[in-house]
Amino acid sequence: MPRVCRWTTSYLRKKSPLLPLLYRDNRVPDLAEFDLRSLKDHIKEQYPDLKNHPIRQYKYLRSLCERRARAEPLDHIIGTTQFYDVEILSGRGALIPRSETESMVMRLCDSLKDYYFVNDKRRRNLGNNFRILDLCTGAGPISLLMAKQLYDLDLPYGFRILGIDVSEPALKLAKRSLEYNIRKGTLPKQARKDVGFYQGDVLNPKPSMYGGGVDQGMQYLGKSEVHDEIKVFFVNEDQVDYGSLMDIVIANPPYISADGYWEDTERSVRLYEPEIALVPPEKRPANIPDDIPREDIFYPAVEEFAAYFKSKAIIFETGGDKQSARVKAMLESRGWETGTWKDFRGINRNVVGWRKETGWNWLLLPSKNGMSYD
Ligand SMILES: C[S@@+](CC[C@H](N)C(=O)[O-])C[C@H]1O[C@@H](n2cnc3c(N)ncnc32)[C@H](O)[C@@H]1O
Repeated sequence: MPRVCRWTTSYLRKKSPLLPLLYRDNRVPDLAEFDLRSLKDHIKEQYPDLKNHPIRQYKYLRSLCERRARAEPLDHIIGTTQFYDVEILSGRGALIPRSETESMVMRLCDSLKDYYFVNDKRRRNLGNNFRILDLCTGAGPISLLMAKQLYDLDLPYGFRILGIDVSEPALKLAKRSLEYNIRKGTLPKQARKDVGFYQGDVLNPKPSMYGGGVDQGMQYLGKSEVHDEIKVFFVNEDQVDYGSLMDIVIANPPYISADGYWEDTERSVRLYEPEIALVPPEKRPANIPDDIPREDIFYPAVEEFAAYFKSKAIIFETGGDKQSARVKAMLESRGWETGTWKDFRGINRNVVGWRKETGWNWLLLPSKNGMSYD
C-alpha cells in the first residue's frame, strides 16, 4: 500500500478538509476524491431535505467520511453496489460484487444473445424454460443481472434462475436485492417467481428427507436436500424433463488460498467482508481428492452438481492463470470441452466448459460488441 504523503495530505486539505480523512485508508488521491463525490451524491439522493440544513448536512457527510477512514467499504456506507444494470444491496453479510464478476456475466449474456438466442426459430425450439443454477450466489449479483439481461430478451419460454448459498446473511441480502430491483422497476414482479434463492451447502449437502431414490411423486428425489430443492424449483409442470434439467451452472466460489488471504487482500476486505466468501474451509469433504489444493476444492464440488443435472455448460470465475489452468484440466478429465476467458488485464479469469454434443463451442467466440479480451 502506498505510504501517506504529507505534501499530498496538505494539497488535499486545501481542496476539502474532508479529503485527508478519505485519503487515510485508500492512499490514492483520485480515489479519495471519488469517494467524496460518491458520498455527497448519496446524501443528495437519499436525504434531499438536508440541503436546507447545511450544518447538519456537513456533519453527516463528515460522519460518513470517518467511517470510510476506518476502512469501511464505500458500498457498505452507501448500501448498494451498481452491478451493470442492477443494484445489489451490500452489507457485512456478503461479498461486495466485483467488476470481474460483472464482466463474466455480461460476456456470457452477450454470447447467449449473439450465438444462442439468435433468431426466433431457435427461441421457439427451446421448449423448456432456460435454466440457470448459480452456486455460491452470495448477495445474488450473478442471478439478478442474468435475470435482467434475459428479461430484456423477452424469451417466449421464459427462464428460471436459482441461487444457492450456505450463508443466511448473504441470502437475506440476495432476497432483499431482488425486492429492491422490483421496487425500482429494474426487474418485473414476475422475477419473484422466476428467480429463487435457497440456503444450502455445496460442499457438504445435507441428506435428503426422502432417502436414496424414493419416488415421492417427484422422480429422482433423494440425493440430498439441496438436490431436491433444485429439482423442485426447476420442475416445469407441463414438461417434467429431467433429461436436460439445466442449461448453465455458474459459480464464483471462494477461491483464495489461506496465505493469499493475508498477503493479497486489502485491510478493508479482511475487516468488512466475510472470510467464508473468500477462503475455502480447511476441512475438505471426503469426495474431494487430496491432491486438489485447498483453494480449488469448490470447483470439483460444483462440477458434480453440473454433471448430476446434466448441465449443458459450466462457467467459473477463478483467481487467475494458474488456477484457471488447474480448473480447466479438472473439467477436461471429467469429459468437458473447455476454454478460458480473459479479463480486461489479459488474465484468464473464467473457465468455461460445455458438453460436446451440445455444440456450445460458441462460448469461445468473441462477443460481437467487442467487449471480450481474448
Ligand atoms: C466469492 S463469494 C461470491 C458471491 C457472489 N456470487 C458474487 O459473485 O459476488 C462466494 C460465496 O460462496 C458462499 N459459500 C461459502 N461456502 C459455501 C458452501 N459450502 N456452500 C455454498 N456456498 C458457500 C459464501 O457465503 C459466498 O457468498
